[in-house]
Amino acid sequence: MTELDPQLFTEPPARDERFEIKQTWSEMTNMWADDGTMLIEFMHRQMNEEVNGLEIAARNLTDFPDAPWELRLAIARQCWDESRHVNAFRRCFEARGGEIGMFPVMNFEYRMIMAIPSLIGRLAVQNRSFEAAGIQAIREAIEHAQHDPDVAALLDAQLADEIQHVRYANRWIESLIRSNPRYALDVVRAVAQANRAFPMIAGEAAMHLELDDQIRTEAGFADAPAAPA
Ligand SMILES: [Fe+2]
Ligand SMILES: [Fe+2]
Repeated sequence: MTELDPQLFTEPPARDERFEIKQTWSEMTNMWADDGTMLIEFMHRQMNEEVNGLEIAARNLTDFPDAPWELRLAIARQCWDESRHVNAFRRCFEARGGEIGMFPVMNFEYRMIMAIPSLIGRLAVQNRSFEAAGIQAIREAIEHAQHDPDVAALLDAQLADEIQHVRYANRWIESLIRSNPRYALDVVRAVAQANRAFPMIAGEAAMHLELDDQIRTEAGFADAPAAPA
């Protein structure tokens, strides 16, 4: 099994014996022929990623007890949202005959983000990058899921929450930097660290995602086009 650089990845989160853990994307079960199993595998993988999102947000609360109260409140709400997402994916997954542990999972998000020492850096990489990329992926998945109302409804509900996770992070990153420009250095360091770490996981599967204008506007990116009046 691939060993990850301990400078860039912390210890993995706990998982019980049902789960088979892989380190890199290429070690996962990546299917291309779609006999319906692809969707089930996606749901299992996504369920575990939502657990990662919950674990990261929870650690952001316990690791930074002195963060502004309003920010902590937004992070606590995110914990609640991510736990709902875990349950929603699990329900859809099991309704299609899936059994927990039938595919391997990866915990790279948790391991990468926990290696970032600042809260603002974690928000910049987890919320502002990973979750923003997730929004784009969900929106595309919704288009493909129109024949399956159950999946479309799940993705639709998730999308609204994920936009909010990116938006509050954008708002707080901006306001923290305004209050102390040195925070910008933490963001730069965190993003540079993530840029070194991510290709070790994704290898050739790493791709550059362009967020469309609607997402940039809704999620509060500073360079977003002006919202329609
Ligand atoms: Fe989520
Ligand atoms: Fe999220």
